Amino acid sequence: MGYTPEPDIFHDVFGHVPMHAHPVFADFLQHYGKVCAGLMDDPVALERMGRLFWFTVEFGLIRQDGQVKVYGSGLISSHRECSRVLAGDCEVKDFELDAVMNQEFQTSEMQPVLYAVKSFEQIYEAAKMAEGRLR
Ligand SMILES: [Fe+2]
Repeated sequence: MGYTPEPDIFHDVFGHVPMHAHPVFADFLQHYGKVCAGLMDDPVALERMGRLFWFTVEFGLIRQDGQVKVYGSGLISSHRECSRVLAGDCEVKDFELDAVMNQEFQTSEMQPVLYAVKSFEQIYEAAKMAEGRLR
């Protein structure tokens, strides 16, 4: 529960599956997959898209009514990481596509910086913007 081991059915079922019921989030995922499928011969572009996935689907934050909430599956399924972020022990930046696509990360460490969106429409728009920039 401290940090997700692989494979982790709790992470997948409790973290990922519920998010697929949100129509805009589901549209984002579908579009994200389509963009990545068109970049299979470009490892640099795929790395940048991987960062978009990491800082949204896996470790995304959203601001609602002035409050930071978690929606990323890596946060939802990790009690330690989630508590740490909500306690303010992680830098929270406003989501910005270029910053996210340039932000490196370590998969096996607590995240020092995360990005908060205003809405899921923002990440859907980001996937469309990324498509335009990387093709
Ligand atoms: Fe995941």
